[in-house]
Amino acid sequence: MQIRYKEEPFSGVTANFEQWPTYTYSDTRIFPGPSRVPIPGVQGDPRQGRNLFIARTKGPCTGCHLIPGDDIWPAGSVGPDLSVIGDRRLPDRYLFELIWDARVFFPNTSMPPWGPAGIMSPEEIVHIVAFLRTLKGNPPFVPPPERDLTRNPHTRPTIPPYYGDNLDPATNPAVLFAENALATWSTRGPAGKACADCHAGGPEKAMKGVATKYPKYLPAYGRVMSVGDFLTVHAPAMTGREMLAESADNLNMTILIRMQSNGMPVNVDVTSPEAAAAYERGRALYFKRVGQRNHACADCHETDRGAGRYAGARLLNVARDGLTRQFPLWFMAYRGIWDIRKRFQVCMLPLGMNYLPADAPEYADLELYLTAFDNGKPMSVPGIR
Ligand code: HEC
Ligand code: HEC
Ligand code: HEC
Repeated sequence: MQIRYKEEPFSGVTANFEQWPTYTYSDTRIFPGPSRVPIPGVQGDPRQGRNLFIARTKGPCTGCHLIPGDDIWPAGSVGPDLSVIGDRRLPDRYLFELIWDARVFFPNTSMPPWGPAGIMSPEEIVHIVAFLRTLKGNPPFVPPPERDLTRNPHTRPTIPPYYGDNLDPATNPAVLFAENALATWSTRGPAGKACADCHAGGPEKAMKGVATKYPKYLPAYGRVMSVGDFLTVHAPAMTGREMLAESADNLNMTILIRMQSNGMPVNVDVTSPEAAAAYERGRALYFKRVGQRNHACADCHETDRGAGRYAGARLLNVARDGLTRQFPLWFMAYRGIWDIRKRFQVCMLPLGMNYLPADAPEYADLELYLTAFDNGKPMSVPGIR
C-alpha cells in the first residue's frame, strides 16, 4: 500500500508510482525492455525543444547535460556536454531514438528511457531534436568562452562543503537531541522496566562498541537489523515502550547508542552464511533498476557511472568511500535528523519509486552492503550535512 509521510521533502512529490518496480523482495516486475517508436510527422520547433530540455517538471535534461545559456544553472555532468552536439551532424533518427529510449544504443545507460517512462511524448522529442541540431560552435566544435565557471560542471570548483565539528553541540543540534534519550534510558516503560535496569553502567559502558557490529544478522528475528531496526522490536518487548522506526524516540536513542562507538572502527560481519547472503541481496538491490526512471543506486554512486560528477549542483558521493558511519545525522536544509533509511527513501522518491517502510528488511540488506565499505573506518555520529 502506498503510504506517504507528510513532512518535507516527502510532501514535495505527491504522485503515486505504484505501477513501477520497487525494492520489495516480493516485487518481481521489471521495467519494459528497450523500445523504438516511429518519428511522428510534426515540424520540430527548437524554441519549444529548449523549453522542454530545461523543464524541471520533465527531466530536467540539464540535471545531467550542459548546454549554452546563462539561465542554465545548475547543470550536471553525469552525461556528456551537449553544447556543440549539432556540429556532429548526428542523424535525426538516432537522436530521436536515443532520447526515446537510450538503452537501444547503450544497454546499461544511466539515462532514463524518457519515452517508455511516459515523461516525453514522441512529438516533444521531435522538438528537442530540432533544438539539439541548433547547438553549434563557432568555429565548429568550439563552444563560446565560459563566462561563469560555476555554471559549467566541468569547470566548477569542487570545494568540499564545511559544516564544522559534527560532535560539537554548538554546531550540531543532533548532539543535543541525543541527550533526550538519556532520560528515556532510565525511565521505566509501561512494562515496568527501563533500559538501565538490564544494561548496567549507563550507555557509555553498556553500549560501548555495540554499534560497530550493526547492521547485523540476528537469529532471533531471522533478518539483518540496524540499531534502529532492533529498537523497534526490543524496546516494546523489554520496556513496553514503542520505538517506531524514524520516530524521534528511535532516532535519539539510535544516536545515543551509536555515539558510544565514536572513534572505533566499523566492524560488520559479512562472512557468516546468513550475513554473506544478506550482503549479496543488498548488492543486488544496489544495482537493481527501479521506479519510473529505471534508475539504480549505482547510477549515481559508482564512479564508472555518475559518482564524482554533478547531478545538477550536487556532487555525487562514491559508495566505495563508505557513506554510512556518520548516520543518523543532522540535515540542515530540513532542520531534522535523518537516519540512512530516510536517505534511501529520499534518493529514490524524486526518481519515481514509492519507498518502503524505513525498517524494511530490504533496506537493512542494502545498508549492510554499503556499511561493509566502511569496515575499519572510525565511526563519528551524529554527522551534519
Ligand atoms: C540521469 C542523467 C541523464 C539525464 C537526466 C539525461 N541524460 Fe542524456 N545521457 C546521459 C548519459 C550517461 C549519456 C551517455 C550515454 C551512455 O553512455 O549511457 C547521455 C547521452 C545523451 C546524448 C548524446 C548521445 C551521443 O551519442 O553522444 C543526448 C543527445 C542526450 N543524452 C539527450 C538527453 C535529453 C534530451 C535528456 C532529457 C530528456 C537527457 N539526455 C537527460 C545521462 C542523462
Ligand atoms: C528486561 C531486560 C532488558 C531491558 C529492559 C532492555 N534490554 Fe536491551 N538487551 C537485553 C538483553 C537480554 C539483550 C541481549 C544481550 C545479548 O544477547 O547480547 C539486550 C540487547 C540490547 C542491545 C544489543 C546489544 C548487542 O551487543 O548487540 C541493545 C542495543 C539494547 N539491548 C538496547 C536497549 C535499550 C535502548 C533499552 C531501553 C529502551 C533496552 N535495551 C532495554 C535486555 C534488556
Ligand atoms: C539520481 C542520483 C541518485 C540515485 C539514483 C541515488 N542517489 Fe544517493 N545521493 C544522491 C545525491 C544527490 C545525494 C546527496 C549529495 C549531497 O549531500 O549533496 C545522495 C546521497 C546519498 C547518501 C548520503 C551520503 C552522505 O554522506 O551524506 C547515501 C548513503 C546514498 N545517497 C545512498 C543511496 C542509495 C542506497 C541509493 C539507492 C537506493 C541511492 N543513493 C540512489 C543521488 C542519488
